[in-house]
Amino acid sequence: MDRQKILLLLIFSILFCGCTVRENIKDELIRIIPLPNYYQLKPGDFDIDEHTAIGIEVADSDMVALAEYFNTKFVRLTGYRLPVKPSGKIRFDLTQDSTLGSEGYHISVASDKIEIEANTYHGVFNGIQSLLQLIPLNTVRKSKQKSLWEIGCIEIRDKPRFAWRGLMLDVSRHFFTKQEVMRYIDLMAEYKYNVFHWHLTDDQGWRVEIKSLPRLTSVGAWRAPRVGNWWERTPQSESDSLSYGGFYTQDDIREIVEYAQTRFITVVPEIDIPGHSMAFLAAYPEVSCSGGPFSVNVGNTFYTKEENSLCAGKEKTFALLDSVFNEIASLFPSTYIHIGGDECYKGFWERCPDCRKRILTENLHNTDELQSYFIRRVSSFLQKRGKKVIGWDEILEGGLAPDAIVMSWRGTKGGIEAIRQGHHVIMTPFEYCYLDLYQGDPAVEPNTYSMLRLQDCYKFPIVPDDVDSTFIIGGQGNLWTESVPHYRQAEYMTWPRAFAISETLWNESHTKNWEFFIQRVEKQFIYFDRLGINYARSMYDPIVNPFIDDGELKIELSTEVDGLDIFYSFDNTTPDLYSNLYTSTLSVPKDASMLKVVTYKGLQQKGKQISLTIDELRRRVEDKK
Ligand code: ACM
Ligand code: ZN
Repeated sequence: MDRQKILLLLIFSILFCGCTVRENIKDELIRIIPLPNYYQLKPGDFDIDEHTAIGIEVADSDMVALAEYFNTKFVRLTGYRLPVKPSGKIRFDLTQDSTLGSEGYHISVASDKIEIEANTYHGVFNGIQSLLQLIPLNTVRKSKQKSLWEIGCIEIRDKPRFAWRGLMLDVSRHFFTKQEVMRYIDLMAEYKYNVFHWHLTDDQGWRVEIKSLPRLTSVGAWRAPRVGNWWERTPQSESDSLSYGGFYTQDDIREIVEYAQTRFITVVPEIDIPGHSMAFLAAYPEVSCSGGPFSVNVGNTFYTKEENSLCAGKEKTFALLDSVFNEIASLFPSTYIHIGGDECYKGFWERCPDCRKRILTENLHNTDELQSYFIRRVSSFLQKRGKKVIGWDEILEGGLAPDAIVMSWRGTKGGIEAIRQGHHVIMTPFEYCYLDLYQGDPAVEPNTYSMLRLQDCYKFPIVPDDVDSTFIIGGQGNLWTESVPHYRQAEYMTWPRAFAISETLWNESHTKNWEFFIQRVEKQFIYFDRLGINYARSMYDPIVNPFIDDGELKIELSTEVDGLDIFYSFDNTTPDLYSNLYTSTLSVPKDASMLKVVTYKGLQQKGKQISLTIDELRRRVEDKK
């Protein structure tokens, strides 16, 4: 580019940026995730000091509870609890406004008062989340005479795009305590999630007390302790102590459900049948095809290699499941119950005389239809108890049970087919929603599989082309925990990707603004740092893309986040901001054996250093083929 062109470009960008920068100065005040559907920043601010009161109808116990909730969060941010009285200037009120629906809210921050109005307490709660995120994190003015926290004046009118905004936590592969589950739910609520999908059972542990079937937890909740790569674990032996595991008592469950209710989160339990049932079979081998014996899986084998499906031929299977779902239906007030249905290996059914007999007596044609028979039978039991049944998209195989809701995880095709058949759908395609996938370069992340970067999560389209979107009740992120051995790692895998999913499910806008999203994510990081919540900074790491061009290995470097410089070395030294600055595609210098890459913002290292041998880069090119 010649000098004149550069000058022209500079003049244009100054003129153009003149307005966007002014816009951005305003927007920089906003850190709310999910972004409200309508907001307008106004001049002036409302000053909160320790005497500023919350104003509510004090006879309204639900509103008192919301004021108390606000205070528990406000005290964590500021160290102060605010008084609550009818004349308070931070008002929480119910209203009647048909534009807000059941979860929407209106916030008005003026210089003399703050008002949150909604049709429901849930709407007020959502407004409280937005208000809490308007309280400044960095610019606290701690002067005794003057205001302590200045909230910029703003008008927000907001309601969600989808009714179902969920996160799923798998507590079978690894166990998370009652307190940890509550912490997970508490944080979900701050980002306006409203469904906690609780994956309570799987091959690696049965985690919910069923009083009529005590062996489900006395046997099914415990396994030999193992660490390390999930797929390489030594199978359980006779001499192993069964010391790893745990379960939730029915009192624990009730406590968690109530806790979630105070945060307007519905707890949807999943009892994964007929596959993924090795823990069930360890406890009650008589409902298997072969008779067993079985032990709770420690993570050593994949599901097709070992028997893990309940027998579809034996009546006792359905008798035990009636007991399980009877207790589950009473324990969980949720209208929705998830019965799994995924990845049921049918090889043992094919060889089982009882299953074969069932196929004959029920006039079925194959084991897909046997699975459908199984799901229909359990569904009708639950439906008679007033519940709505959800299953993973495999429940389409052999025919959908009447009124079943499909959770589409193998892409969106299952969801599209279910909609075609007139069923409701929850979208959770793995390529946008699986929080167990890598979120950065495998060289610097804990071992897992595949890849879901934050930027891809943010692109979650939810509604496929040419479907009737009214059948899509929402979507969710799923955290499977094979490679998530403890709670801090669960946080690391969830955040910030769950910010992206929450925003996609809430905000109507089809023109997403990635840079503005990242600005807000970075403010949430400051908040998380303050509270000691773990999260992944992988979005700052370099992205290394090797490829072959004309027979030669070439390397492209990039970043997810704008404004980062990438530095690299091929000479085995540690790169810093005085190393080679990446500007265009790299060729590998003769005899180099290692590439090291790092990102900086100004003088500050932002991403992790990624070190890859040239052999590994060549392997990655091969793997892409
Ligand atoms: C699943 O990922 N098996 C639903
Ligand atoms: Zn069988």
